Amino acid sequence: MTHTPEPAPQPIQPDSAPPDSDTRRDFIVEIPPALIEALHRARSVAVLTGAGISAESGIPTFRDAQTGLWSRYRPEELATPAAFEQNPRLVWEWYAWRRELISRARPNPGHLALAEMETRLPHFTLITQNVDGLHQRAGSGKAAPLIELHGNIQRVKCYQENRVVDRWQETDDPPPRCPHCGGWLRPDVVWFGEPLPWEALAAAQAAARACEIFFSIGTSALVEPAASLPLLALRRGARLVEINLHETPLTPHATHFLPCAAGAALPALLRQTWSQGG
Ligand code: APR
Repeated sequence: MTHTPEPAPQPIQPDSAPPDSDTRRDFIVEIPPALIEALHRARSVAVLTGAGISAESGIPTFRDAQTGLWSRYRPEELATPAAFEQNPRLVWEWYAWRRELISRARPNPGHLALAEMETRLPHFTLITQNVDGLHQRAGSGKAAPLIELHGNIQRVKCYQENRVVDRWQETDDPPPRCPHCGGWLRPDVVWFGEPLPWEALAAAQAAARACEIFFSIGTSALVEPAASLPLLALRRGARLVEINLHETPLTPHATHFLPCAAGAALPALLRQTWSQGG
């Protein structure tokens, strides 16, 4: 399956509150008792994250009006194979800018809470659309699988041979060249129109099918095939929990919708579910 935005992006209102006041809402996030009970009983939980979970680390999302990357840049000029072939320097430099931004960012309380959650549940799978590596830096992926659906911006691969490259020579005329074949190097991320790594997608689908609770966190739920994972879980009888500042096409299907910042909701969920050692 290829990486496609589907349906067309909806207009989303800009966030009305700055990140600081989102964090203060931490104190009033009430987790539904039925969800707490379900988490105590659950043997298998899957979580899908999107750009919203990293927003509180200062990394721009894609589709939020005004602040989202796709409100300032055109994906077809920066995130497709055709864009790279047409202007490889522009594409390389745009990703180099984002890589730099990401390397200066730090995991936020939402990432940290998910890293803690994987130690609390018998079977836990974290599936992310993010390429920023902040889940790993928060400690996720040690006690449970962490699946990167769209690659990782810190990795680089050869455009020609599709193989990951560890070292390369920087150049005044980017993109740098592959040390093996001399072809262009590109970020190891999934661009629009490209297939997802099939093992990653298969593992994510298996986790969605097997889980009793599926969380969709900080994603607009518009980009396929990731957008179908919560629906797959739902069809198999899972409880669906959505955490997002705004409603999405998934919201009407959610068993629980927590309309708040991930960095507030997830620590509250952790505290309210496991504070009594449950
Ligand atoms: N907490 C929770 N949700 C948030 C927060 C926050 N602090 N901040 C923003 N959001 C929500 C927004 O309301 C929005 O629904 O996060 C979502 C971000 O959506 P997108 O920008 O569309 O990001 P995502 O769903 O991850 O995009 C999917 O699109 O361009 C591609 O490959 C790129 O992986 C990306 C994919």
